[in-house]
Amino acid sequence: MGSDPHSSPIGVFDSGIGGLSILRALRAELPHENFVYVADSAHAPYGERDDAHVIGRSRAITQQLLAAYGIKALVIACNTATAAAIQVLREEHPALAIIGVEPALKPAVALSQTRRIGVMATRGTLGRAKFRTLVDSLAGQADFICQPCDGLADAIEHQDTTKIIALCAHYTGAMGQFGINDGGIDTLVLGCTHYPFASVHLTQLVGPTVRLVDTGEPVARQTRRKLKTLSPSEVAGQCLLLTTGERASLQRAAHHWLGLACPVESLSI
Ligand code: DGL
Repeated sequence: MGSDPHSSPIGVFDSGIGGLSILRALRAELPHENFVYVADSAHAPYGERDDAHVIGRSRAITQQLLAAYGIKALVIACNTATAAAIQVLREEHPALAIIGVEPALKPAVALSQTRRIGVMATRGTLGRAKFRTLVDSLAGQADFICQPCDGLADAIEHQDTTKIIALCAHYTGAMGQFGINDGGIDTLVLGCTHYPFASVHLTQLVGPTVRLVDTGEPVARQTRRKLKTLSPSEVAGQCLLLTTGERASLQRAAHHWLGLACPVESLSI
């Protein structure tokens, strides 16, 4: 990707393939930028793990992206890692632009008519102080029905369709009635970057009138705003995909969801 600082890549990481939903939006918003994506699949899922694990992995990946690729910005394409580690990473790397993701509660409030909003996320995201602060900041504006979805990111990671459908049915069933009538949940926040890859199944379960809200586009716009230098190139940016897990599975997911046929390399950290 060259040593010109203007062509330095943007680093993006997630516990696995979920962050590809953010990379998809980043590539659409910033088509001339280069990206290095890390799927930490050998250490996934993050969502049911403690701070020590998630912060440790986030630090190691960030150090690697800086040392080996000279990234000019970092997108934490994972709600769980953002909630656990963004503060530590910002303290350790004050010169690096770091963009995190959080469940899209504010956009959901703007969209909802019934004022009943479902939030699907990992236990790790919903249980951390950062999420509680976000909910408190919107007190009185809507009811949030928050559902921890143990196992769902893992099922998506392994592209296990039977399990994905069963878990989506179980968790949406537990949240109550969906729909645009009074008392119904009319807006469903996908608070884990893996979940957009289950959108088709979720829409079948909750019905076509319920809006699904994810964070890809707002995060991509925020990344553009935070970049000190945009790539001066007019040619399409390149992507490099790295994984601590199986290369074939990241390659399959990137091809299937993003139409990306780019190199996938193994990463051992
Ligand atoms: N994709 C991640 C998130 O947004 C984490 C999924 C997991 O590893 O549990 O929270």
